[in-house]
Amino acid sequence: MKAIIPAAGLGTRFLPSTKCTPKEMLPVLDKPVIQYVVEEALEPDEVDGAIIVTSPNKPELLSYFQPDLSLEQLLRERGKGAYADAVAEAGSMPVDFRFQYKPKGLGHAIRSAADAVAGESFLVLLGDYVVPARDICDKMLAVSASRGGASVIAVAACAPDEVSRYGIVAGERAGSLPGCEGAGDSEPGAVWRVSGLVEKPDPAEAPSNLYIVGRYLLSPLVMDLLEDQAPGAGGEVQLTDAMARSLDREAMYAVVIDPLSGYDTGTPSGWMATNALMAASDPRFSGAFWEAVDARGGLKR
Ligand code: G1P
Repeated sequence: MKAIIPAAGLGTRFLPSTKCTPKEMLPVLDKPVIQYVVEEALEPDEVDGAIIVTSPNKPELLSYFQPDLSLEQLLRERGKGAYADAVAEAGSMPVDFRFQYKPKGLGHAIRSAADAVAGESFLVLLGDYVVPARDICDKMLAVSASRGGASVIAVAACAPDEVSRYGIVAGERAGSLPGCEGAGDSEPGAVWRVSGLVEKPDPAEAPSNLYIVGRYLLSPLVMDLLEDQAPGAGGEVQLTDAMARSLDREAMYAVVIDPLSGYDTGTPSGWMATNALMAASDPRFSGAFWEAVDARGGLKR
């Protein structure tokens, strides 16, 4: 099974930083955001490769996942083995690329990788979301395995006035992840049967407050439907719309996850908070991080 990671956006919210550096290459601690997403994508046993869909204007992403033997050798000669290992790791991950030549939306980006999934179910991981525990895809795969290979999406509860930022699901409770039988309907571990999906609804018309967090396990039918998917919200070809069309012909489930399972790096403030929070909780960085903060008199609101 392949995992598709769309990474073709312009990174407008991070300009001017993203004038020459793709948004996906911005660092979280010591690695670019995209590497966390690739590592998460490759975590399930079922996944044998990641496909990054990017734009031809972002060659840095391709370079990053290529081996750099001369840099590695130089680092080893200088006794910097740990850095050499990190460089080698980034260059040896099973990552392939497809191009999205025009920014026509998420659905169009996913469709650009159709040849790579070759009629099989596939995962989609949106790159703005870093999930340190890397456990969401395994949850979706478990639900799918127990429901005849159906499509499964990860959802989380949001405040009612935030629904217009997301894809929102309609449906009803259909079960639980093992060990989560006591979970409330919008609590982590609840499993829903999806009956409808709407991209960025008006809060007055939203069917629930469960939003798609950006982790999907989709059947080949969704990829087929993307081929002639008309533009939707924002004039873009929406993945959500093709998923909604698949509901006439196939079952889809949603597994509720804790909204705090992931860190949102999609805005400058979210990215800054992610770095601070992950630095403070990572033993490799927390000591020096707090020392640097304390040297400035501490962090106050
Ligand atoms: C995309 C999806 C949306 C999902 C969101 C999660 O929207 O279209 O359904 O809820 O990601 O971040 P975007 O953020 O690209 O507008």
